[in-house]
Amino acid sequence: MESVPQRKTILSGMQPSGELTIGHIAGALRNWVRLQTEFDSLFCVVDQHAITARQVPADLRRRTLDLAAMYIAAGVEPEKSVIFIQSTVPEHSQLAWVLTCLTGMGECSRMTQFKDKSERHSDNINVGLFTYPILMAADILLYNADLVPVGEDQKQHLELARNLAERFNHHYSPTFTVPDPFIPEVGGRIMSLQEPERKMSKSDPNRNASIFLTDTDDQIRTKIRRAVTDSGSEIRYDETGRPGISNLMSLLNVATGQSFAEIESSFANVTGYASFKEAVGEALVSYIAPIRDRFLEIRADEERLRSILRDGAEAARGRARKTLRKVYKKTGFVDLTEK
Ligand code: TRP
Repeated sequence: MESVPQRKTILSGMQPSGELTIGHIAGALRNWVRLQTEFDSLFCVVDQHAITARQVPADLRRRTLDLAAMYIAAGVEPEKSVIFIQSTVPEHSQLAWVLTCLTGMGECSRMTQFKDKSERHSDNINVGLFTYPILMAADILLYNADLVPVGEDQKQHLELARNLAERFNHHYSPTFTVPDPFIPEVGGRIMSLQEPERKMSKSDPNRNASIFLTDTDDQIRTKIRRAVTDSGSEIRYDETGRPGISNLMSLLNVATGQSFAEIESSFANVTGYASFKEAVGEALVSYIAPIRDRFLEIRADEERLRSILRDGAEAARGRARKTLRKVYKKTGFVDLTEK
């Protein structure tokens, strides 16, 4: 009956921790928007992952809705993609438990992100931080995602998801699709404007280091003008030798789509960074302003946003429930709905 080949499924998610920056758009959203036309797409706000760090409840609630609104403002369309909040689909935690019982302690303790995070937050090394990648595996495997768009830093987590899928399939019978990471070509990494050797972080205490989605046009221009650059005066891409200028070039690439080679040739006769910075500032303003305005508009109509997320949860749950039912059955749990 099915003459049309089934589209592949992608799933990705972001944590609602910290404020929204251009890094979210450059690193992930830009990509999701492109992918949603080609793939069966699910995009999740992973609020359950966020509580592995301590959260103020009201802030978490607001940021969860903010992040979902940002997905939409950046161009993820509820008509094309399933947009939902992780905690509204209880099957994620339910599958995570089954997978937890298939995971070795050693597998979790090897995770470099766990090691990093437990060093940075030595006052709160909770078990959730430890089992975080298992919940992420559940997010992915519940929907039989073929591809998972993530950054390089998530590759190890994805490897665990693959291993768990294979382990379950082997131990019981074929159930899960073994997912592949889908890592975009370079260009997505946006660095701090003040310390361009470090990633731009939503939680950087120096507000001049990041471009926030809610910055005004003038704030954007000022931050770019004040961005730390390197000694020299040429506009040339060299991530290690000239991290400051290279980062501004990445931002210009995000805003205009111009390649580094194109940027270099159009600024070949320019000496000094001032006019380059002006150009980057203006391009960013033109790029961010419509996204910011759409974000504010979506956020002003919370009823509509909630309704989109309710529809997303329902669509996601329909699919998640089917997978979980199979998993429970194979695991040996009693199904009381069966006659
Ligand atoms: N761990 C991911 C990150 O911090 C977020 C995440 C959670 C995720 N579940 C996911 C990403 C499932 C992709 C698929 O970036």
